[in-house]
Amino acid sequence: MMKEKMIEQTEAFVKDKLKDESSGHDWYHIYRVKKLALNIAEKEGADSFVCVMAALLHDIADEKIAGTEEEGMREVRNWLESIFVEEPYIKHILSIISSMSFKGGSGAEMESIEGKVVQDADRLDAIGAIGIGRTFAYSGAKGQLMYDPEIPVRETMTKEQYRNEKSTAINHFYEKLLKLKHGMNTPYAKKLANDRHAFLENFLEQFFEEWEDRK
Ligand code: ADP
Ligand code: NI
Repeated sequence: MMKEKMIEQTEAFVKDKLKDESSGHDWYHIYRVKKLALNIAEKEGADSFVCVMAALLHDIADEKIAGTEEEGMREVRNWLESIFVEEPYIKHILSIISSMSFKGGSGAEMESIEGKVVQDADRLDAIGAIGIGRTFAYSGAKGQLMYDPEIPVRETMTKEQYRNEKSTAINHFYEKLLKLKHGMNTPYAKKLANDRHAFLENFLEQFFEEWEDRK
């Protein structure tokens, strides 16, 4: 099978699997990460087939979607075998996906340039205007307030705190979003991240001005 055909079929497979997702991993997140990954891959000279396939499949193995990460990885492998992707590609794609979903931080350090590209693309989709939108959507779905002046802003939260304490959409900026630009791997993604990061800062500044009616 031609690579373009493999990509097309994988797109249809992922779209169908994620059609009812509401945990921030909907099809359009995948659509954006795929586009970003392709753009970054071209600028950085990475293998675009591996980047696109890993971007398309990166959330299928997430525990929120598959029962367990293992089941998810098995499902991805079965899919790739069923469309006759060659074994070295399968190994590479699976290793990227498994590093991306590595718990404790947002992913493990990537070994290959293709892994770095896809990780950057996923992180870029968590900042900028889209990142803000996703954060408020996620918070709303969880029943959190967008902001609560009585909840101190925290830059680190333990798993315990996540389970037991209230948080807000705004707090998530400090826990995660504002840190993401420092984790970018590739020069082109760093450039994109700088713009998106500046947008987050402007947003916060205006948010707090409006909150206190200081403008
Ligand atoms: P991914 O695995 O794609 O990086 P996550 O599952 O961590 O994403 O989160 C999906 C989306 O929901 C992201 O945009 C993220 O910023 C947002 N999100 C995750 N956790 C929280 C939270 N505690 N409060 C608000 N938004 C969150
Ligand atoms: Ni993702």
